[in-house]
Parts: sequence; C-alpha cells; structure tokens
Amino acid sequence: MTNIGIFDSGLGGGAVLNELAKKNKANYFYLGDNLRVPYGNRSKAEITSFATDIVNFLEGYDIDYYIIACNTISVTCKDYLRGKYKKKFITIADMAVEAACGFEGDFLALGTKATMESHFYKSTLESKKPCTVYESKAIDLVNLIESGVLEGETLNEALDEYLSTANEKKLENIVLACTHYPIIKDEIKKRLTYQANIIDPALYLAEKLVTKDRENGVNIFMTKESQETKDLIDKIMEVDYRLTFIGGL
Ligand code: DGL
Repeated sequence: MTNIGIFDSGLGGGAVLNELAKKNKANYFYLGDNLRVPYGNRSKAEITSFATDIVNFLEGYDIDYYIIACNTISVTCKDYLRGKYKKKFITIADMAVEAACGFEGDFLALGTKATMESHFYKSTLESKKPCTVYESKAIDLVNLIESGVLEGETLNEALDEYLSTANEKKLENIVLACTHYPIIKDEIKKRLTYQANIIDPALYLAEKLVTKDRENGVNIFMTKESQETKDLIDKIMEVDYRLTFIGGL
C-alpha cells in the first residue's frame, strides 16, 4: 500500500482528502491542526514551526510522500519541509496554479492573509500567461467555516466584502486559494452578481494523482475534539474514514 501523508491547519484539507480518496485508493493519513487554526494570520516562523510539528507526527506512519492540503503552509514553507524531510511534498498551491493556467481571462485569488501577502498566485500565474491576478485576503472565512458557519447573514457580509473586486470587474475566474473555501462554494456562487468560473484545485489534484492500490484506508487525526468538527467532517467525507482526536501536537 502507498502511505500518503496529507495535512492542513484544520478541516479544509479534509475536502481535498475526500476528493483524493474518492478517485485514488491509498492509505491516507490526514492531520488537521484545528486546535491552532487559523494559520493564515500567523508569522512565517510560527507557520513553519507548526507545519514541522505536523510532519513530525505523520512521519510515525511510514509516509511515502506528502500532500500539503493547505495553501498557507504551501506558500510559506514547502521548500523548508522538502529540505528537512527529503521526501516529496505535492502542494495544493502549485496544483491550483496549474489548474488556473487552463483558463482564459483574469483571476481573483481568494485566500488567507499569509497566502495573499506571499503574492504566490499573482507572481506565478502572471509569469505563466497573459492575465491579471487580483488578490483578496479573506481574513475571517477560515474561522467562520471551522466554527460551523456555512451560510447566513454573517457569512454573506464577509463574502460580499471579499468578492467585491470580482463583482466590480466581473473577473472571469475565481481561484479558491484556500482549501477551506470549497466547503462554502455554493455560498460563494450565490454572492457573485455574475457567472464566474470557480476553480477548485482539489478536483484538479484528484484528476492528476495516480495510485495503484485497490483499497482505501482513510485515517483522520484532528488536534482538538469538538462536536462541530465531528459534524463537519461527517458532512465533508463521502468515503469511509476513521477519526481520532489526538489533543494537540
Ligand atoms: N486551509 C488553509 C489554506 O488553504 C487555511 C489556512 C488557515 O488556517 O488560515 O490556506
């Protein structure tokens, strides 16, 4: 069996795990650090140190390669992790840019503060094709999603603010540059005043990844136990899984 380590600051990467496990059978070991989520408002040093804690934990499972299912970790410290662990780390941010390259027009990159301030999406996509990438820091979205706010007035107000540039300029494409956002994709669509192409990088990654295994083993570790987390994981996952709360790293 192939042992794939996959991780995020919280639940968002669970949506990536779900897409992967539906299409590609393997032994998945997922870690979501919902005790310390969100990562997106933290410093580079803190994000790097937390990501190292996560990989140290997953290394106990004889991992063949990793998938960084968190844009914030991807753009902050993928090279550090590759250098330290000498293993392959596929990143959702690289997959997102590859996916976006297949579409014409301009883009809104919707992501966390850390991801947007890295300008990874803007610099990479604009260097690969003629387009303009507008950046939107969706500071509150991860917190809202982790606490189970998946619809309603508060979410709508936040979305109206973060999508304002897209609505003003009628941008052709919106890249979900944070793995939490596909969970509220329908709400995002509803707050757009026009029809945009919404790019969910997890779907692209699930198409690209090829595994040779015949069975799935989906193990989910979360650092903090809560009923909202249990309910959300249950809502996200369409394959069988085993959930363990480990109480911190
Ligand atoms: N899912 C993470 C990402 O893709 C959220 C980061 C956070 O915890 O703020 O960036």
